[in-house]
Amino acid sequence: MYFAEENDRLKEIVRRIAERSPGSVTPRPVDALVYSVVRATSPDRCLEIGAYEGTTSLYIAQGLADEANGELVAVEVEESSARGARKHVEGAGVGDRVEVVTDDSLEYVPTLEGGFDLIFVSTPTKQHAEEYENVRPLLSDDAYLGIDNADGSPAVEKARDDGMDVLTFDDWSFALAQN
Ligand SMILES: C[S@@+](CC[C@H](N)C(=O)[O-])C[C@H]1O[C@@H](n2cnc3c(N)ncnc32)[C@H](O)[C@@H]1O
Repeated sequence: MYFAEENDRLKEIVRRIAERSPGSVTPRPVDALVYSVVRATSPDRCLEIGAYEGTTSLYIAQGLADEANGELVAVEVEESSARGARKHVEGAGVGDRVEVVTDDSLEYVPTLEGGFDLIFVSTPTKQHAEEYENVRPLLSDDAYLGIDNADGSPAVEKARDDGMDVLTFDDWSFALAQN
């Protein structure tokens, strides 16, 4: 079984981003879990909301590359971070799987057509109620929804109320839900 961090360029890029801004990146085990979900399910379409400089995008894109299938749309509101994410996915050799969109997710996501097999929400918790309402109709049957910053997130409760199967990882402030 191939693992994302066997890509030395990816591993080095992730190490540098985490060293520079430790509080801003998603916990590494969460990225590993998301990579595993991508490998296990070989999604056609993935959406990431709040990409920062592309750490999680790298793991998703590497999973897609390893499956030789699928694409990722990664949304980031800060232009400089989005530029960094583009540079990083190119640098790791997985840029052909990723479109980094610079926009406010709360405006951009409602313009998207549905049919996403994996959606990863990594924006601040205070936006999660609105993010959830926006992504819910975009999920395909059996799709996975990753909720980062899940501690106190209304998205976790809403997913349960909607009958999704939800697994929480309290130490990582992460929740994984399946449609
Ligand atoms: C915790 S960071 C994401 C970390 C990322 N998963 C990683 O590991 O690199 C949250 C990101 O969400 C972005 N963000 C916040 N509000 C946003 C919005 N309305 N639309 C798009 N991005 C947003 C922030 O600029 C920030 O880069």
